[in-house]
Parts: sequence; C-alpha cells; structure tokens
Amino acid sequence: MNGARMTRQHAMRALALGVMVAGALTLAGCGLFTTAVPVVEVPGGDVVRGQQALINYGCISCHTVPGIAAADTHVGPPLTEWARRRYIAGSLTNEPENLIDWIVNPQEIEPGTAMPTLGVSPDDARDIASYLYTLD
Ligand code: HEC
Repeated sequence: MNGARMTRQHAMRALALGVMVAGALTLAGCGLFTTAVPVVEVPGGDVVRGQQALINYGCISCHTVPGIAAADTHVGPPLTEWARRRYIAGSLTNEPENLIDWIVNPQEIEPGTAMPTLGVSPDDARDIASYLYTLD
C-alpha cells in the first residue's frame, strides 16, 4: 500500500514537472527569454582592430564599454548591447553606415553635441563599428 502512495506521489511530481516545462517553453515562445544577441556584420570591418582603435582614440575616456575594464565613465552613454539599439545619438537609425558616419564626424550630424569629432579615419571607424556591434 505504501508502494501505491509512492506511485501517486511520483505521478504528481512528474505532472508538476511537466506543467513547469510546458510553462517555460510557452514563455520562451513568447520571447520572454531572449538569450541570443543580434549580431550585425559590418562588411570589411575588423572586430579585433576595432577594439584596439576604440582604446587608441580615447573613446573609453567618455564611454563605458563592456569588456574593457578601464572604460567605466559616463560622459557619453554606455555602449552596451549596441546591436539592440534602434537609434544612434537619438537621431540616426542604428545601421553600420550611419554608425561609421557618426564616429567619423558627430559634429556634422549633430552640431554642438558633447561628442567631439576626433579625426577617426573611415577605415578605423568601420573597424570600431564592427566591434561595437558585438557588444552585449
Ligand atoms: C569627450 C567625450 C566623448 C568621446 C571622447 C567620445 N564620445 Fe561618443 N559620445 C559622447 C557623448 C556626450 C555622446 C552623446 C551624444 C548625443 O546624444 O548627442 C556620445 C555618443 C556616442 C554614440 C551614440 C550613443 C548612443 O547611445 O546613441 C556612439 C556610438 C559613440 N558616442 C561612439 C564613440 C566612439 C567610437 C568614440 C571614439 C572614437 C567616442 N564615442 C568618443 C561623448 C564622447
């Protein structure tokens, strides 16, 4: 008789587990669990060179950049989860060519912005852009 009760308990546990798994799958299906970071490829860009250029040009003196320990300042917005952003500086849609333009000449795009035009070459800006799109 003890055996019968155990069996019922097991059945209840299995049922509860099944309900939890089904619930989790439903939530996942609704997109509540977003694990994959959208990655944007920048044609011709070099991610490794981009990270180095970002350091060399001093971007990290104003921006928090995940993965670069020294970059923990808040003069400019943090450059986290970059591939998920809709807009660049609130004005341009977040696409590779727009990001490159912004990095090369923010003052032309938004005169008077607190981000200075730093003399970044278009090639370096392309590398930096390809690096930024990998950031989570
Ligand atoms: C002197 C500080 C400063 C430096 C140096 C600087 N930025 Fe910025 N940056 C800013 C500020 C302030 C903004 C916000 C501009 C705005 O919204 O008008 C900004 C905005 C941005 C944005 C858009 C952010 C967003 O959330 O929309 C990107 C991308 C960016 N900077 C990249 C760079 C890169 C790459 C470099 C190096 C080449 C760099 N910045 C150097 C201050 C700086």
